[in-house]
Amino acid sequence: MKLTILGGGGFRVPLVYGALLGDHAEGRVTHVTLHDLDAGRLSAIARVLAEQGAGVPDAPEVTATTDLDEALRGADFVFSAIRVGGLEGRAADERIALAEGVLGQETVGAGGIAYGLRTVPVATHIARRIAALAPDAWVINFTNPAGLVTEAMSRVLGDRVVGICDSPVGLGRRVARILGADPDEAWIDYVGLNHLGWLRGLHVGGRDQLPRLLADERALGSFEEGRLFGPEWLRSLGAIPNEYLHYYYFNREAVRAYRQAERTRGAYLLDQQAGFYREMGKPGTPPLAAWHRTLADREATYMAANREAAGIGERNEEDLESGGYEKVALALMRAVARNERATLILNVRNRGTLSALDADAVVEVPCFVDATGAHPVTVAPLPYHAVGLVTAVKGVEREVLAAAESGSRTTAVKAFALHPLVDSVAVARRLLAGYTDEHPGLAYLRS
Ligand code: G6P
Ligand code: MN
Repeated sequence: MKLTILGGGGFRVPLVYGALLGDHAEGRVTHVTLHDLDAGRLSAIARVLAEQGAGVPDAPEVTATTDLDEALRGADFVFSAIRVGGLEGRAADERIALAEGVLGQETVGAGGIAYGLRTVPVATHIARRIAALAPDAWVINFTNPAGLVTEAMSRVLGDRVVGICDSPVGLGRRVARILGADPDEAWIDYVGLNHLGWLRGLHVGGRDQLPRLLADERALGSFEEGRLFGPEWLRSLGAIPNEYLHYYYFNREAVRAYRQAERTRGAYLLDQQAGFYREMGKPGTPPLAAWHRTLADREATYMAANREAAGIGERNEEDLESGGYEKVALALMRAVARNERATLILNVRNRGTLSALDADAVVEVPCFVDATGAHPVTVAPLPYHAVGLVTAVKGVEREVLAAAESGSRTTAVKAFALHPLVDSVAVARRLLAGYTDEHPGLAYLRS
């Protein structure tokens, strides 16, 4: 099996390769092709992979290329994990939004819209090349904003593209741990859009264990989301929100913390990652050790401004382990390639799962996965407050997709203005002006 990784010079690629190294079964990935626009980043990551694979007899062979078509030909799986505009773009998205007093996070609010507007045309182009060169490949999209980008690609590739995110799995694991349940045995009732979902139950042996957690003040205060939102708010909701809902439920506090922070997340990562790739260029740098050190720092500082806003200090040791998006990706590949059935929380087309949304809207829900693909499982309806957010944000995503197709500035302004975290049409107009001045990748918004 051949796996092609787009964004193959990206920092998280060794996580994926590490997961592949643990798979020795028949039908496993035997060849990995890394594709990236930046040859320097490709060779840095290839060095890390070489050290990871040293001494593993059946380690997948790795090749690298900067030619997209060459990378795609013959692929059985394509992972897309690209960052259009780089971390410079991410930092600019944050800066321009904060100057207007709104959040510029890469997936939420104004920043997510700006990032989506420059990513959707590129993702659509990639989807068309896949349709032409590897029409039978399964495509796994990690590229943020993951729900929106998966929906854009699904317009070309249908259900052959599946979006993944590690935050629902991470949340499910943390809740299971507190409840003393085995996360792999539990049925996790998690529903919404990417970075906009709620864990409404965790069932073991047919019984929902979440009420036990909600009733236990001490347990609620002992894990990441419990500390971020506070026990009282979780009880009011009767559910545990995805951590990204902190940007909605504590918007003022998050904006204040981001404005007061020395650097935004994007600006911080821009420096940190530049340092890593620079170091990798020097002969004598031990690749894997340098990568591990950088990864540990990245995990430890994740959502630092939100934690600052909530006054909860550093991350707990047990919360540091991410959901393991590479594990989700591997489980998904095994399920479709080898019919190893699994239930995973994935970004797929809605069909009839959430009644407030149409059939083609990409949602993030538990899916049953086998050789025929990922099939969303029927879930209980969301409460009105959640339906409100989900439909409002899906409405925004649709305007982004329409603007990307037509190049219409009016439609792009509409996308910003309709977002629940952008509080004025005048702000939306200035945001679009600021973003188009900054990003060459938005030059297509002309009409
Ligand atoms: C979580 C999110 C991802 C995001 C990642 C890294 O895992 O689900 O969508 O890419 O965090 O965030 P960072 O701020 O470190 O780039
Ligand atoms: Mn994510």
